[in-house]
Amino acid sequence: MDLHIDKISKTFSRNGDENTVLGGIDFRVHEGEFISLLGPSGCGKTTLLTIIAGFQKATGGRIILNGDQVSSPGPDRGFVFQDYALFPWMTVQDNILFPMKEMGVPKAQRDKNLTRLLQLSKLTGHEHLFPSQISGGMKQRTAFVRALAGSPQVLLMDEPLGAVDHQMRQSLQEELEAIWLNDKTTVIMVTHDVDEAIYLSDRVIVMSACHGRVVADVSIKLERPRERVGSAYTKMREELTEYLHQGFWEGQEKAI
Ligand SMILES: Nc1ncnc2c1ncn2[C@@H]1O[C@H](COP(=O)(O)OP(=O)(O)OP(=O)(O)O)[C@@H](O)[C@H]1O
Ligand SMILES: [Mg+2]
Repeated sequence: MDLHIDKISKTFSRNGDENTVLGGIDFRVHEGEFISLLGPSGCGKTTLLTIIAGFQKATGGRIILNGDQVSSPGPDRGFVFQDYALFPWMTVQDNILFPMKEMGVPKAQRDKNLTRLLQLSKLTGHEHLFPSQISGGMKQRTAFVRALAGSPQVLLMDEPLGAVDHQMRQSLQEELEAIWLNDKTTVIMVTHDVDEAIYLSDRVIVMSACHGRVVADVSIKLERPRERVGSAYTKMREELTEYLHQGFWEGQEKAI
């Protein structure tokens, strides 16, 4: 897997007004990496992720996956929406089976994968419940393993842990890491939470507040599983917070 976000720009036009949200974002993603896109609200994170997914087109630049340009959605890119987007009329089990059925995975293999994914996400025993009958965290885990069920080359997640409380968020981060360490699927995750980015990522890409630019591309070399304390962690936190400030003020200056 090799993914190149090649000078992606995006300008929205409405009633003659032009709003440049992404101004030539360029970075590469390597096999098995966990990358976070970190930036303030409105900086264009969702826009960039949906362009990578092929849900909308860039104004300029290209998305190159394994040497080929991609411009429409495909099973090679899994997507986890912020609001889960589970099928409410399907049980947990049927939600997870859905992408495998779509792809024509044989039944025996589907059942084997389902058992593994239910175990990974600690949903065994809850597989016959409907989304309305399970908690936010369980919905989140269902959405996550459903996206993994299609065996994507890269998993795109838009603030997958945004809708849960602090305690639940930390425990879901730990579970997400455990699943990811087991699976090693390449991940690009959108977040505006510095701690979440440090806890989970191999690399954090910080975006500026306006005119979407990459302010910094920082490798996180802390050992896994990570401690949320200690001087190395604190230093990383300070560094990323500083970049976020830098990106914020850069945006303001341009906007004035
Ligand atoms: N379809 C659209 N038409 C016009 N403008 C849009 C459209 N989609 C997004 N925008 C604008 O692009 C900017 C970036 O939006 P985007 O949703 O990508 O931000 P974000 O970084 O994901 O923010 P948040 O953290 O709040 O989710 C915003 O100013 C938004 O108003
Ligand atoms: Mg968003």
